[in-house]
Amino acid sequence: MSNDTLIIQAGLSDKPRKSKWPARLDLAQSASGLFLALFMWLHMFFVASICLGEDVMWTVTKFFEGYYFFGTAYPRLVSVVVGVVIVIFVTHALLAVRKFPISYKQYKTYHAHMKSMRHEDTTLWMWQVYTGFAMFFLASAHLYQMFVWPQEIGPYGSADRMWSDMLWPFYLVLLLCVEFHGGIGLYRLAVKWCWPNATRDFLKKLKWATTGFFLIIGFATLFAYMKLGYEHRANYGEPYVPTSISQSIEGTYK
Ligand code: HEM
Repeated sequence: MSNDTLIIQAGLSDKPRKSKWPARLDLAQSASGLFLALFMWLHMFFVASICLGEDVMWTVTKFFEGYYFFGTAYPRLVSVVVGVVIVIFVTHALLAVRKFPISYKQYKTYHAHMKSMRHEDTTLWMWQVYTGFAMFFLASAHLYQMFVWPQEIGPYGSADRMWSDMLWPFYLVLLLCVEFHGGIGLYRLAVKWCWPNATRDFLKKLKWATTGFFLIIGFATLFAYMKLGYEHRANYGEPYVPTSISQSIEGTYK
């Protein structure tokens, strides 16, 4: 038996056993990020339904409240979905924190490195940290509101929130953070896991095209809610009743 075999059998090898946990955590961070990014694409289309008219947004809202399945709207069903998103959002944030610079010294070192490298991917990573940090607060506030008051979602409820409750600056910053953070995140996922053979140049073009596309829809949506909120300001708090339904069921139409 050779010396090496003896050392390994005795567990005395000087090579430390490599833990699989960093890789597992990395995979979990990528998976939760992918879920959130895809969720945000769907979310944008649902929220943008206001661009097609109040009735279309009302129909989307009632669909998620189960109105077309149970004959009655249950806004709490939306809270359940928000609850799932909150869990995944918090998990993703927790996993991301381990990569943040944890001291001013570390931050300065990275910043100096970024400036000297002038490599776009390194700079994009720092922007992901900035936007991710902002979303700790902004997305948490939005999710809390959606979780606690799902009955306030609707053409007039959402538009009043944007205009009369003055939340449009909040949504504007959140929109920019989400689109830049999500776009950079998906680009990094593609480079890391899915598309190693594609050129970075191609992936970057795809990233900017996707970000631009969702920002255009996002701005149009924000504007549509603000316009409706402005027009509806005198009747703040009044529930929306679609043209096809004349009598309202108390508490379900917002
Ligand atoms: C299930 C969870 C969610 C629900 C039910 C939901 C619902 C809504 C609704 C109804 C609006 C329209 C404005 C309003 O009523 O206040 C909205 C807007 C918005 N939400 Fe969410 N949201 C969810 C999760 C998220 C998350 C996780 C983010 C980002 C991290 C996000 C980012 C935004 C942004 C940026 C807008 C403004 C969109 C625009 O004006 O173009 N939402 N959301």
